[in-house]
Amino acid sequence: MKEFNYTKGKPEDQDIYVPVDDIESSGFLNKVNNGALTNVCKDTESPGCKECLCQYNRLEEARFWSRIMEEHALFILLGLPCDQPKLREKAKFFIDLFSALRKRLDEACKLEGDLLRDLIEAVKAIIEFKAELLRLIIQCRKAPGSNYPLLLDHIRREAERFLSLLLKPVPQDSLELLLEQEAFWLRIMKEHHLLDPSERELIEQAETFRKTFSRLLETARDLLSMNEVRPKNFNTVIRFTRDVVRNTTQLRDFKAAAFELAALCELLSIVSTPLLLDHIRREADKFLSELEALLPEVIKCHSTLQ
Ligand SMILES: [Fe+2]
Ligand SMILES: [Fe+2]
Repeated sequence: MKEFNYTKGKPEDQDIYVPVDDIESSGFLNKVNNGALTNVCKDTESPGCKECLCQYNRLEEARFWSRIMEEHALFILLGLPCDQPKLREKAKFFIDLFSALRKRLDEACKLEGDLLRDLIEAVKAIIEFKAELLRLIIQCRKAPGSNYPLLLDHIRREAERFLSLLLKPVPQDSLELLLEQEAFWLRIMKEHHLLDPSERELIEQAETFRKTFSRLLETARDLLSMNEVRPKNFNTVIRFTRDVVRNTTQLRDFKAAAFELAALCELLSIVSTPLLLDHIRREADKFLSELEALLPEVIKCHSTLQ
């Protein structure tokens, strides 16, 4: 388990560490409740809370999302019919492009200069590629293969999020940021599902998750809207977020189990590779890690629950 620490003796020129993977979510609430997570905010009245620096490690974010982008291109390629060579070539181009960028990111110690510029250009280009494919399918000008429209829209939204993180790396107020993250990720979480119709037991479970996450998403959007009046404290968001953590942890475990089944060839689905199930499990862990980073900050700065 990686420990979360905002301040632990990092040189000035390095990004602050935020874990993006390998989170063991079961101990999540204990860590939050025991105050084990270091925080920059001391109390709701302190000037620190006004600028609540929910700082991201931009390099770690870029590494996480670049891998996601490379895998999206692979999933698109595997889903494209073989009579579409131009689109297949384009998908291969993006696999190579993000693979090369990932190597550069692995060697870099800071996200800036040419690397940042090249990454922004690459993400803009893959967003356009996903949008182009979606347009072609919506207008019935290309067969979708196994890239169904909502899946393309889903991965386009994930790329848009990556781009916005690259263009606007320092987030705003912690409460608003938490609610925005929840609205983004809850929508993503409710859309992950590619099982064969014969997998009735698993589909039943997936459907229960989808309903739960639809409800949670609706609530997150309501709370985000209410937060526009800028309440100083919003304890309900804390309760809601704990509920989100509990459900996302369960969903994460479900995805991890599905990956194990697919890897053993014990699962029927249109998933082209078990990697896709690992991919969506990583996205659930990423959501949990973002909640882990933000919730203690919101508890300290935007609640009466000290
Ligand atoms: Fe994804
Ligand atoms: Fe996703």
